[in-house]
Amino acid sequence: MMRFDVLTLFPESMDNFLQESIIGRAREKGLIHIFTHNIRDFSLDKHRKVDDYPYGGGAGMVMTPQPVYDAWYHIVKDCPKRPKTIYMSPQGQVLTQKMAQRLREEEHLIILCGHYEGIDERVLEEIVDEEVSIGDYVLTGGELPAMVLIDCISRLVEGVLSSEDSYSNESHYQGLLEYPQYTRPPEFRGRKVPEILTSGHHANIQKWRFLQMLERTKKKRPDMYERYESEHKEKILEAYGLLPKRKRRKKAGHVNVNEEGTSGLSHVSKDPG
Ligand code: ADE
Repeated sequence: MMRFDVLTLFPESMDNFLQESIIGRAREKGLIHIFTHNIRDFSLDKHRKVDDYPYGGGAGMVMTPQPVYDAWYHIVKDCPKRPKTIYMSPQGQVLTQKMAQRLREEEHLIILCGHYEGIDERVLEEIVDEEVSIGDYVLTGGELPAMVLIDCISRLVEGVLSSEDSYSNESHYQGLLEYPQYTRPPEFRGRKVPEILTSGHHANIQKWRFLQMLERTKKKRPDMYERYESEHKEKILEAYGLLPKRKRRKKAGHVNVNEEGTSGLSHVSKDPG
């Protein structure tokens, strides 16, 4: 079970998303708990004001510290252990699958969404443990990023997806992109399903899929491939049948990468030496 509390000025903007599909079902099953809190409800101003002009001048408005702090305190005052507080911000560390896996280990996260030109720095210093960005671009508020973060973490919570398999094979899980998927019909607009997938030879299918993962990652995300390669040299050589025999973990039949004969490792000698 994992709990999320979201502090936002626009809780309604998140409602539909958080009630639908896999996240909605996970909430119904009690696997995750998500509470949204309207920061404005905590404003002590008689007009429920939550922003003001920036000291020192400049464009736009800044969210005042009092309503944010009180909304946050309203949650933490009843917690036996101080939950981790995340501020969605383009200045944060960029969200990765690895980060999601780390945050999934938390029992309780508070997610703060900003708006306008930002939030008074003093309340951020007081309550924020970590800033998270969803990419190097700027959005109008933290609500979409918070939904991205909640979605990405929730699907890693046990029971949310139908089986562990649904994410252990997917893109980014092991630092590689996923292999291509096919379903019926066997031929679509002249394009056939790769023969190996209908061969029924499970071990060869596994090998083929792994080679596809390597090839795709190399082509689409050379940065990811480089990282993977530096950590898994032997595994790659083995997959391409380039590991000297005495080093092979088990007798490996050679599988072609695909019908077009995608090249092997350009930087690796074909002679295993
Ligand atoms: N708020 C505005 N832009 C953002 C981004 N890229 N990531 C997280 N929060 C944001």
